[in-house]
Parts: sequence; C-alpha cells; structure tokens
Amino acid sequence: MKRTFDILQRAMLPLDGTIARWVPEIMDAYARIRPTGAWRELTMVDFTAGSCLMPALFAASGVRQLVVNDYAPRSKLAADFLFGRQPISLRRVEALLRSRRPKPRVHVPTFHFACDYLLEPVCEIFDRLYYADVPASERTGLRYLAVRWALGFARTAEEGFEILYTHDIRQLAQTSDVDWHPYLARLRRYRSVMSALVRDLNASLGVIGPVRASIHCADMVEIAPKLRLKGPVFAAVNPPTRGLDEYTIDDQLVHSLMSNRWLPLSKVSESPMAFWTRRVSAALKHLPLGAEFMVWGGDGSMHWRECFQIWALFGEPLHISRLGSGEDAAGWAILRRTGNGVELQ
Ligand SMILES: C[S@@+](CC[C@H](N)C(=O)[O-])C[C@H]1O[C@@H](n2cnc3c(N)ncnc32)[C@H](O)[C@@H]1O
Repeated sequence: MKRTFDILQRAMLPLDGTIARWVPEIMDAYARIRPTGAWRELTMVDFTAGSCLMPALFAASGVRQLVVNDYAPRSKLAADFLFGRQPISLRRVEALLRSRRPKPRVHVPTFHFACDYLLEPVCEIFDRLYYADVPASERTGLRYLAVRWALGFARTAEEGFEILYTHDIRQLAQTSDVDWHPYLARLRRYRSVMSALVRDLNASLGVIGPVRASIHCADMVEIAPKLRLKGPVFAAVNPPTRGLDEYTIDDQLVHSLMSNRWLPLSKVSESPMAFWTRRVSAALKHLPLGAEFMVWGGDGSMHWRECFQIWALFGEPLHISRLGSGEDAAGWAILRRTGNGVELQ
C-alpha cells in the first residue's frame, strides 16, 4: 500500500486543502467496515475529487467502478489522465520540446496573460505541450503534463506562486527576500524535469489497473440527483468549508492556463455555511440506503459539531477520527446512509 500510495501521490494533482495524506488511514478504516475482498463489486464515488488521490487509490486497491466529480476543470483533467489508460510518450514530449517554436495558432500565447508568475520559457514549454498538434488519444496526457509542469513553479501547493517583479534572470538570482533558485533550476533542467514527470505520471497508470470511471466536472448539487447508483457504494464528500471562491483564487493561474485567458475572480453569493450545507446535503440525500460515505469537516468556517449535525441527518456513524484532541478539532468520519434523511433546502 505504501509503495502504491507514493506512486499515486507523485501523479496526483497537487492541491491546497487536499486530504491526500489521510487517504490510506481512511481506506484502512473502511476496510474494517467492508473487507477489501468485497471491493470489486463496489462503486466508489468522489463528489469533490480534487487531487484525485482517493479514487486512484481505491482503483489501485481493487475497485472497478468509479464516479469521479469535481467542479474544477483542473481535477477533471487529472481524472481524465489517471483513469484514461493512455500513457504519455516521452519520445513525443522530447520531439515537441526540440521542435522549432510552433507558429502561433488560435490560442493566445500563455506568456501574454501569465507573465506575473511564469517566465516566458516556462510558458513556451507549457504551450508546446498543451496545444501540441497530436492525435486526440495523446492530448489528455500532454495537457496534464503541461499543467503539472507549470504547477511545479509554485513554492508549494499550499503557498502558491510568487509574483515575478522582474524577468531579469540575474536580478531574480540575486533577490534576497524570495529564493528563486529552485524556480530557475527547474527551468534550466527542463529536460530531466520533464522525463521524471513523464515517468511518475505513467507509473500511476500501471498501479491503477482496469477501472470504469465516469468522470464529471459539475457542481455536486447538480450531479448528485442524476447518478443512478446501484449495488454497494462508498462515497467521499469533501467540499470546501470556506466557499467556492477560495478555490477560484488559489487556482486562478491553473484555471487561466487551461482557459487560455486570465480568468476574473468571482464571489459565491451564499454564505460559506449555506454553501457547504447545501452541497453536502445534496450529495448525501441522493445516496442509496446502506451506502457508506466519508465526510471531512471542522477545519473551515464550520466547527466539527456543526458539520456532524448535518451528516447525522443522513446516516449513522461507523467510524470517527479527529485530528486533534480539542472539542473543535477537525476530523473525518465514515457513516452509513440510513433512512432518517431530512429534506434540506
Ligand atoms: C477540500 S478540497 C478536497 C478535495 C479532495 N477530497 C482532495 O483531498 O484532494 C475540495 C474540492 O471540492 C471542489 N469543489 C468546490 N466546490 C464544488 C462543488 N460545488 N461541486 C463539486 N466540487 C466542488 C474543489 O474544486 C476542490 O477540489
């Protein structure tokens, strides 16, 4: 499990707020509820897949049927690659990197809108991969590779990108308040960075194995009533507790790269509590009776107790884990869907 987890962690989408590191513990707890021998029959649903680590690890542990959803296109791209079984050809990547600068096509050169964060050669490599003129079967892998290449220039997934106050490499190297050396070294070593990325991304396909994945990029409120789930189900429900806009801000660069224009921010009109409650309730309300579900809460604008009150409307707890000892410590739980659900707005 540890080796598989390490492989999948290197291939997942890096994401601020991901619960990836707790996934093995969550799966161990679930295996005590439903032994892994019975997972072949299971449908694993992730309403907020984010990094995609959890559905990937379920698939690597014998689950054959996945429903993967996230409102954000960067997670759909990750899912399309991880569950699409099309490895990236390193020869193709090397040829694209070697080729003369492609003529500008319909797209805006990425540097024209991403220059506050990405140096021009970083953007050029992104464009060569993301907009490569290749057969459709190769596009998802190259696009995910391009996104992972660009995300690698963030300080960390949690800290995000530094603003480039200059594009003069010498000035950057001498700047003392920000250490630009890792950034510049990544760019200088782009060929070896790329081959390590290709190796890591392709390795994940080897451990995930044959899985039927239905992949969506929708608000969970919309998708939940449309899923016709049958048989045993395990669902993960982990929307943000501070409202959707935090993801718009954190991911503004990656979403802009994928949209080929700088995206404006938008503010959700619901309060964070209403946002979270409506989404969690919609997902849980539509689960079949008897389904198990994993929920996470208490680390945003809602306390653990407030979260738990909502979960308990839809099921009975089978396992609870808290991350700290205080009454308000965040945590996660696995519940079984029971028939005591209340219709919430
Ligand atoms: C706290 S993150 C965790 C994701 C995932 N469990 C992980 O560990 O990577 C929440 C995720 O919910 C997604 N999200 C936000 N609003 C959503 C919505 N209305 N419907 C579906 N997904 C949403 C975000 O894009 C983000 O990937």
